[in-house]
Amino acid sequence: MTDPGPEPLTRWHRLAGTSVLLDGFHALKHAVRFGAEVPVAVTADRRAALALADELAPDVRETLDALLTEVPEAVYRSLVARPHPTAVAALAVRPAREASLRALARTPRTAPVVVLDNPRNLGNAGAVIRLAAGFGAAGVVTTGTLDPWHPTVVRGGAGLHFATAVERLDIGELPYGPVFALDPEGEDIRGLKLPDEAVLAFGSERSGLSPALRARADHLVALPMRPQVSSYNLATSVAMTLYHWSATGGTPA
Ligand SMILES: C[S@@+](CC[C@H](N)C(=O)[O-])C[C@H]1O[C@@H](n2cnc3c(N)ncnc32)[C@H](O)[C@@H]1O
Repeated sequence: MTDPGPEPLTRWHRLAGTSVLLDGFHALKHAVRFGAEVPVAVTADRRAALALADELAPDVRETLDALLTEVPEAVYRSLVARPHPTAVAALAVRPAREASLRALARTPRTAPVVVLDNPRNLGNAGAVIRLAAGFGAAGVVTTGTLDPWHPTVVRGGAGLHFATAVERLDIGELPYGPVFALDPEGEDIRGLKLPDEAVLAFGSERSGLSPALRARADHLVALPMRPQVSSYNLATSVAMTLYHWSATGGTPA
C-alpha cells in the first residue's frame, strides 16, 4: 500500500465541514465527469477503485488515478458515516450560489427547471436531481427548509448535483418561465406540450403544492391516474413529467 502521508487526511479534516461529501465510486465518477472541483479523494482499495474506473469510467480514469489516495480501511471508515461498498469517498467544492443562479437564469433555456415545493424526503430530492441530470434539465430548485446539498441527497443523486444547477430559493425568486404546477386536479398532461422554458413545479410529499406556489402557477397539470388512487410518489411524478417533455419534442442535452 502507498503511504498516504499526512496531507490528504489533513486536507480532509480541514474541508469536511464546508464541502460536499461524495460517497462511493459512482458519486466521485459523476462529479469529476461534470467538472466538480475535488480537493481530496480516498479509498480503502485503490486497485479495486481503478479497476472500476477501467470498466465504467475510462474517460475520467486518469483524473481518478491522480486524485485517489489509498488509506487503511479503518481510516476510511472513520471518515464516512456509512461505508460504501466501493470504499471510495471524496470531498468536492459546493458551487457558489451566484453560479447556480446564473445557470438558472441563462437564456435561451433548452430544458425545463424542476421546482420541488417544500420537499421533506431527502431520498426523493436525490432521486429528482439524478432524473434532472439524466434529462439535461436546467436545474432543480427547492423551496422550504430541506438542504438540496445535504449528504443524503447527494448520495441519492449519485454525485449528479454537478450535472445540473441545484439551489434552494424562495418562491418569489423562482427562475423565469411559465410555471406548470403538477397536481392531480389539473389538466391532463397528455394533451399538452411542455416548452423548454417551462418551470415544472411539484408539491410536498405531505401536503402537495403550497398556496404560494399555486398562486404563482400559470397552468395546473395532472398525470394520468386511475380513480381512487390519490397521488404518485414525488420523484415518480417528476420522472413522468420529464419523460413527457422529452417524448413531445424536448431534447435531453
Ligand atoms: C406525493 S404527492 C403529494 C400528495 C399530497 N398528500 C397531496 O395532498 O397532494 C407529491 C407531488 O407529486 C405530484 N403528483 C403526484 N401525483 C400526481 C398526479 N396524478 N398528477 C399530477 N401531479 C402529481 C404533485 O406535484 C404532488 O404535489
